[in-house]
Amino acid sequence: MTFPKTSRRFMDLIDVDWPIVQAPMAGTSTPEMAAAVSNAGALGSIAVGAATVEAASKAIQHVRLGTSRPFNVNVFCHAKPRRDRDKERKWLKFLGPEFAVFNTAAPASLAEIYTSFCEDDAMYAVIREARPKVVSFHFGLPGPQWIAGLKETGIVLFATATSPKEAHAAVDAGVDVIVAQGYEAGGHRGVFDPDGPDDRLSTFPLVQLLCRELDVPVLAAGGIMDGKGIGAALQLGAAGVQLGTAFIATDESAADEGYRVALFSDAARHTVMTRAISGRPARCLSNTFTRLGQSARLDAVPDYPIAYDAGKALNSAAKATGNLSYGAHWAGQGAPLARALPAGQLVEALIEELRAG
Ligand SMILES: Cc1cc2nc3c(=O)[nH]c(=O)nc-3n(C[C@H](O)[C@H](O)[C@H](O)COP(=O)(O)O)c2cc1C
Repeated sequence: MTFPKTSRRFMDLIDVDWPIVQAPMAGTSTPEMAAAVSNAGALGSIAVGAATVEAASKAIQHVRLGTSRPFNVNVFCHAKPRRDRDKERKWLKFLGPEFAVFNTAAPASLAEIYTSFCEDDAMYAVIREARPKVVSFHFGLPGPQWIAGLKETGIVLFATATSPKEAHAAVDAGVDVIVAQGYEAGGHRGVFDPDGPDDRLSTFPLVQLLCRELDVPVLAAGGIMDGKGIGAALQLGAAGVQLGTAFIATDESAADEGYRVALFSDAARHTVMTRAISGRPARCLSNTFTRLGQSARLDAVPDYPIAYDAGKALNSAAKATGNLSYGAHWAGQGAPLARALPAGQLVEALIEELRAG
């Protein structure tokens, strides 16, 4: 199959056969998924943004047991959350009646459950030492020394951008590939500043703007579920694509039964951008939590990931009683097109469809 020059350049850069990246998905993608995707000739990813250094190191080893091909390790580069005890107390009070439904009290206090990669020296050292082919940044960028340090070892750097401004900042900082994430994308929006202005650009206009303005490969991310979608993105000038929602129902996914059932239900037709679950805007299958979020004031939600501590506690309380409708069921607008297949077979199907045009 012949690919445009920009795709060829991208595939050569990261040494893959197909211009397809399986999105890193904290809590959902797994080392098995990454290995299966990489073995099929695309780029598999693991997400270690929510993992400890030990778990990240194990996950990297785990991928290497499954494949000798290139893969991507993804980290979260969010700004340090602001602690506001009064706001946190009020948020817990707001959630109190929901916990009460499950005969549980809301937690007494909240914690910053993940450390940003930007302040995690140990994580930086482990990833640099492990030298995956690709490292990708979400929610922002680390400092110049770390960017230089990772590049020095030959690692190729990707960063999510939701706007031309973020994309230019990433390229100026030395990032090699931009993941252009449209508003329709599933999971957390990669905005650098969740409180800043957001033009909410869709994948296609964002990709076209970035392809015109940048000299580095641009990957289209958001709403792409099949070979036709991939072909359309390549037509617009994208060097490749990054798909998340398409992989949620694969055999290797960590998505639990409630998530899978929701994905194949009517909820998939009504995805909602909400910050009530984690403290940052993220697109989720419509459920009780997203509905609750619609009744909350935006400025009442504590910063990411402090709010996520409450979100996870509420989901656990609900799940303990068999209620599966409070999960962080992240998914994009293409959710109704999801397929339940082994990840390698999904990549093969995507290629077949792309070939068929
Ligand atoms: C379940 C889920 C979890 C995600 N987690 C991450 C993550 O940990 N890191 C990241 O960079 N992007 C994450 N994303 C966003 C993806 O990288 C990508 O932008 C998005 O999936 C593309 O849109 P699509 O879901 O419509 O394919 C996640 C997406 C989903 C669906």
